[in-house]
Formats: sequence, structure tokens, C-alpha cells
Amino acid sequence: MPDVTLTTLQALKQKGEKIAMLTCYDATFARASCQAGVDVLLIGDSLGMVLQGHDSTLPVSVADMAYHTASVKRGNQGAMIVADLPFMAYATLEQTLHNAGLLMQAGAHMVKVEGAAWLAESIARLAERGVPVCAHMGLTPQAVNILGGYKVQGRQQAQARQMVADAIALEQAGAALLLLECVPSELAGEISRAVKVPVIGIGAGPQTDGQVLVLHDMLGLSLSGRVPKFVKNFMQGQSSIQDALAAYVKAVKDVSFPAAEHGFSA
Ligand code: KIV
Ligand code: NA
Repeated sequence: MPDVTLTTLQALKQKGEKIAMLTCYDATFARASCQAGVDVLLIGDSLGMVLQGHDSTLPVSVADMAYHTASVKRGNQGAMIVADLPFMAYATLEQTLHNAGLLMQAGAHMVKVEGAAWLAESIARLAERGVPVCAHMGLTPQAVNILGGYKVQGRQQAQARQMVADAIALEQAGAALLLLECVPSELAGEISRAVKVPVIGIGAGPQTDGQVLVLHDMLGLSLSGRVPKFVKNFMQGQSSIQDALAAYVKAVKDVSFPAAEHGFSA
């Protein structure tokens, strides 16, 4: 597979071909995911939950993220690598630049931050310095204590209008990619059409430009036993992890995943 760059992702959006993104935390899964055709590997701070066993992503450190990013980089074969800036690692502009630098030097090609229009300044300053940014909107798990739980975002009309405006503002600030988590499918489609940059969805329906899932979720591994409605277990009907990864990529590309039952209504 040739190297996936920002240009590749933009071209996929223009062609209407879906982007397959998957979380990844180590070299072996990086290699397997690349061989299955995954375009973008996300070192998500979900590792706080699925690897470390915490009940939220808040305990994850920049050092944790850099360690796993470096591991993924060693197994990568041409995918784009995106790494999450964890909780409080982008609270000030100085911290943002410093910590983004650490993740880029560990092997990321892009960093991801959670929030809304207030991220504009950080995104602009990072982009000026050569760091592409993915803006994660909608359900932002680092803010779970403000949100009062892991809930669908943008169901109220005012909140939905604000989310569209914020997405446009972050694109104008220089965001390279947007990610929408747990957003009604229609709203996610509207945002995807309102911006030129690719929009990746999780629990955001089939109209976004690509999809992402947490690796352990799509392999049917769950610590809590509670699986979100937007997850599909791709091990079902497959006899190997390699086949499950390939089935995920195929389902994203042919838009058979996500199905209506994986999405949310307004
Ligand atoms: O940390 C993570 O895995 C993520 C995805 C759920 C988008 O941010
Ligand atoms: Na994350």
C-alpha cells in the first residue's frame, strides 16, 4: 500500500470513497491493520480503558500516548498515524505545542484534540508549525464529567446548529480532519457536506467520509460487557483477526457498515 497522506484522504473524500480508520496501540496490530487495508491508524486515548483498565480516558498521560505511538510506528506499513493528545495535555497553548511535538516525534503524522470552536487558536498555531490536527467533536469523552455521561450530542436544534458552525470554524482555523462521535446521522451528514476536509464518524451514521471504531470493540472484546449500539463485532462469521480486520475495511468501503441500527436519530 502506498503511503496514506492528507492528500490521499482529501482525494478519497472528493471521489466519494470512504476512509477506513481503526484504533491501534501496538506494532503487531499496526502491521495486521495495514495488511487489511486500513487507511488511518488512531492511537486513541481509549487505551486508558481498553489497555489500562481505567473507567475513563482521563488518567492517560502524554508519555503513555508517545509509547504506544512509537510502537504503532514500528509496525506501520503506509497508513497515516493519528495520535490523541490526552486529557489536559492541550489546556494551554504552550502545553499544546510541546505535547503535540512529543507525539509527532514519536511517530504521529497528525494529532487529535477534543472540543469545539474554542480549539481554533490551538489548531491554527499547530498547523503553522507543521502539525496537522484532527478535531474530535460531538461526544468528547475527556469531557465526560461535564457531559454527565457518554450521551449522543446534537439532538437539540440549537446544539446541532452550533455544531455545524463550529465545524466550519475549525476547518477555517486549519483543521485537517474532523471526527464526529455519537451525533445523529442526519446532522453528521450535513456537517460532512458543509466542510471540504474529510469527516470521520463513530456512532455518526453512514453519511460521513469515513468510519472509525475501537479495535477491541470491533473484535468483540469488551471488559465491561456493555457494547455501544454503534459497534459491530466483525469477528462474527470470521475465523481470524486478520479476516475480521479485512471485513471491517470492506464494510466501510462498500458502506454496508454502519447500518441504520448503528446510528442515532435526532
Ligand atoms: O480514543 C479513541 O479511541 C477515540 C475514538 C473513539 C475516536 O478517540
Ligand atoms: Na480518544
